[in-house]
Amino acid sequence: MAHADILPRLIALRDEIRRHDYLYYVKDHPEISDSQYDRLFRELIELEQAHPELVTPDSPSQRVGAPPLQELVKVPHAQPMLSLDSIIEQSEVQAFDLRMKRELETLSVEYSVEPKFDGLSVELMYDHGFFTRGATRGDGMTGEDVTVNLRTIRSLPLQLHGGSNLPDHLVVRGEVYMRLDDFQALNRRITERGDDAFANPRNAASGSLRQLDSTITATRPLVVTCYEIMNVSTPVPPTHWDELETLAQWGLPAPALRRLCASIDEVMAFHRETESMRDQLPYEIDGVVVKVNRRDWQGRLGMKSRSPRWAIAYKFTPRKEITIVQEIVVSVGRTGTLTPVALLKPVEVGGVTISRATLHNADEVARKDIRIGDTVKVERAGDVIPAIAERVPVPGEHRSTPFCMPDYCPVCGSSVGREGAYFYCTGQLVCGAQLKGAIEHFASKHALNIEGLGKKTVAQLVDTGLVRSLADLYRLTNADLVRLEGFADRSATLLLDSIAGSKTVSLDRFLMGLGIRQVGQHIAKVLAREFGSLDEIMSADRERFQQIREIGPEISQGLVLYWSEPRNREVIAQLQESGVQVAPGMATGDRKKSPLAGKTFVFTGGLDHFTRDGAQEAVETAGGRVSSSVSKKTSYLVMGRDPGSKLDQARRLGVTILTEVEFAALIGK
Ligand code: IVH
Repeated sequence: MAHADILPRLIALRDEIRRHDYLYYVKDHPEISDSQYDRLFRELIELEQAHPELVTPDSPSQRVGAPPLQELVKVPHAQPMLSLDSIIEQSEVQAFDLRMKRELETLSVEYSVEPKFDGLSVELMYDHGFFTRGATRGDGMTGEDVTVNLRTIRSLPLQLHGGSNLPDHLVVRGEVYMRLDDFQALNRRITERGDDAFANPRNAASGSLRQLDSTITATRPLVVTCYEIMNVSTPVPPTHWDELETLAQWGLPAPALRRLCASIDEVMAFHRETESMRDQLPYEIDGVVVKVNRRDWQGRLGMKSRSPRWAIAYKFTPRKEITIVQEIVVSVGRTGTLTPVALLKPVEVGGVTISRATLHNADEVARKDIRIGDTVKVERAGDVIPAIAERVPVPGEHRSTPFCMPDYCPVCGSSVGREGAYFYCTGQLVCGAQLKGAIEHFASKHALNIEGLGKKTVAQLVDTGLVRSLADLYRLTNADLVRLEGFADRSATLLLDSIAGSKTVSLDRFLMGLGIRQVGQHIAKVLAREFGSLDEIMSADRERFQQIREIGPEISQGLVLYWSEPRNREVIAQLQESGVQVAPGMATGDRKKSPLAGKTFVFTGGLDHFTRDGAQEAVETAGGRVSSSVSKKTSYLVMGRDPGSKLDQARRLGVTILTEVEFAALIGK
């Protein structure tokens, strides 16, 4: 080809491929065969390979991914990306309609209704018609920059249609998701390689988009649909319906399935119809989104802190399928709670194969009367763990005996305790299922406060067998740690220092760190004050615990069971042997003498010289208590910057109000 002809041919090829991408991926209406398309694409690649200087970022060839990133960079959103309130009942959607009419002072409101796609929300930015940046929703204020990954999604135009009429700047919001057939094919591919399958299309979409290596994203069959203009430099269309039309005119994929409804009855009809065709749709939707159509009305209705007032997610009833309970096993969570789990004959519910379902707790099993061999209905709602909805009685069936919770933990053999409907393993410190959780808790800020001992490190220590009990922490050496991934000499030294630093610990923090059920920060402090020493607590009986005002029958029972497990006592002895010294807490006698004994403090607003935790600790060290709400019993309200409604409450009740300076003086700081 003559050199002068190359650029025009490249431009023509790109335009043509873009048009066919649009027809195929957005319009779902291809005009040429796959092999004709492949031929065009090959020609483009060959020409670009021969003339790399002519490659442009918006060329269809550039959708194959870019070099891997070190991390996904956090980006603030220009406007917060709100979430939606969701409802499920007809009465709730009628109430929504009444609210809209009342607030808008009108007799009828028109709604634009579209599917609620079950994927992950993204923000897409176009400058002068070119796709320039895309981010995940994140926490709504800050997301992750996934621009290079989004570029690999074929239904996302790298260039908008519309030539000179395009806005200089446009930010749209949409949903990235995966079609069901593509999801199943992907899972097949992944499992054949020996990797774990994704649990559902939404996880698959999220895992595929939030990749450091966009060449992996490029192999994942993601699609995108846009449903909101978040910001545009030209006038905004007057209605949501026009907004979607405008998005479509710009070549962006907008929901094709949508309806303009003149009344809430029409909304309910659309909801019904969509729900009945849900199984025939090629992708997962979990409801419809109902939006007030007029944008000026949207503006008038405004928003709450996390969601707009003018829209609502009107969900479908969760899907249910029938299967058989093959076994009921008991799993032990990281906090020791025993959960009965039904192992099911695998069944597909909404495109996902389910073979286990939680039975929540013993009461639930009894209430639903689920036994091994029963026929049951399982349901799956959104990303919730599958659950058994109900038993389906089968005429003439022979049922097995009712399920009972075990007396001993299936993981470690410790005795099982009970708290209402919940059963738990009492071997907090010795149970393999609880070890990681127990260590994390032991090291946490309000317990032994071992800096650098987070979730990841704990997992490494336990998985490599370096730590098999809490006491093992105090035997770790520099040589042990530097062998772990992510550790160097300095980080190892820092961690060892903070472990060593935790060897002297106050009684309340130590108690808190043991992870005894129901013994959080507050109860740990109460115990430390009442008993003064660990030995006193370890030898107390139920009656003694119950004499304490803050301690009810359940906590006493928990404490007694905890200390009755000899292996828990053994761990404490080991900790003491490793050099952990528990400093005696404030004894009752001392507390009575202290200046603030019996005084209750409430804080409101921001403090300049204390953290909230620090202020609380100071009050408690001086024998006082901190409460979160103002009552007649409150002794002092400490007023910080921008005090809230607690100040009014305190004034009304005649509670003494202190400034931060007065407070500091009172506690002697
Ligand atoms: S509108 C201010 N429309 O649902 C408008 N959201 O449960 C907020 N979603 O985080 C969003 N399909 O990710 C809207 N047609 C649709 C949607 C949709 C799915 C997601 C979105 C949002 C979540 C809220």
